[in-house]
Amino acid sequence: MPDSAPQSRLLPTPLHTAVIGSRVVVYGEVDSTNTRALQIGGDGLVVVADSQTAGRGRHGRTWHSCAGLGLWFSAAFEKPTPGLAFAAPLAVRDAVSAYAAPSLKWPNDVLVGGRKLAGILIESRGDVTAVGIGVNVHHTAGDFPEDLRDSAVSLDMVAGTSVSRGDLLREILTSLDGYVARLRKGGAEEIRREWCDACDIIGRRVRMDNVEGVVLALDQGGALIVEAGKGFRRIAYGDVIHLEPDASLS
Ligand code: BTN
Repeated sequence: MPDSAPQSRLLPTPLHTAVIGSRVVVYGEVDSTNTRALQIGGDGLVVVADSQTAGRGRHGRTWHSCAGLGLWFSAAFEKPTPGLAFAAPLAVRDAVSAYAAPSLKWPNDVLVGGRKLAGILIESRGDVTAVGIGVNVHHTAGDFPEDLRDSAVSLDMVAGTSVSRGDLLREILTSLDGYVARLRKGGAEEIRREWCDACDIIGRRVRMDNVEGVVLALDQGGALIVEAGKGFRRIAYGDVIHLEPDASLS
């Protein structure tokens, strides 16, 4: 089933988890770990690849997934686990904290020094939900496509050392497993609040497309409630730009 030889250095051993890692499938090269996770399924399945030929980002974007540079993986869930969109960025943040000082950017980017370190794509097909996570690990600035060079960063760049992808994978999966256990015990609201706090977006002035205003709240589903002009706007997804307090559209 693997597209090419397994990359044993990506195998996170030992993995002391309850749900995640019930099965681990490692590819050398694959189209997208999310695609494979949705196809294979199984609660707790982890699919990890050294490179992806069709890595996907949010909003139909391409996720550059060169061999040897990043950590590209997906975890599949089949039992209802509401709140994964809040848990996944927190789990990445927790794991990365051992090497750098990360922050979360709504809805689920992980940044270091204002640059994107990791992205998360959650997709569902039938009963299977795939949480796909991409972390830039060994990139130098020149490894990023030119248009991303000023906005992306890798863990090695900020840690000043070579971070093991296997160790990082184990740390993210262990943290995510803890959040999943809490979610399945009814802890979604508590985790949503932790995520809201970590996003640090309430009170910020933001812009998305032609909407500009101050974020008043995050609703139950994680959407932004923005006071814009004389009314309120709900922004459920997208890429918001954080503005300085006195910035305006003109
Ligand atoms: C984003 O746009 O920020 C989300 C990027 C998600 C990338 C990861 S890499 C592993 C998994 N497989 C994919 O095709 N995408 C996700």
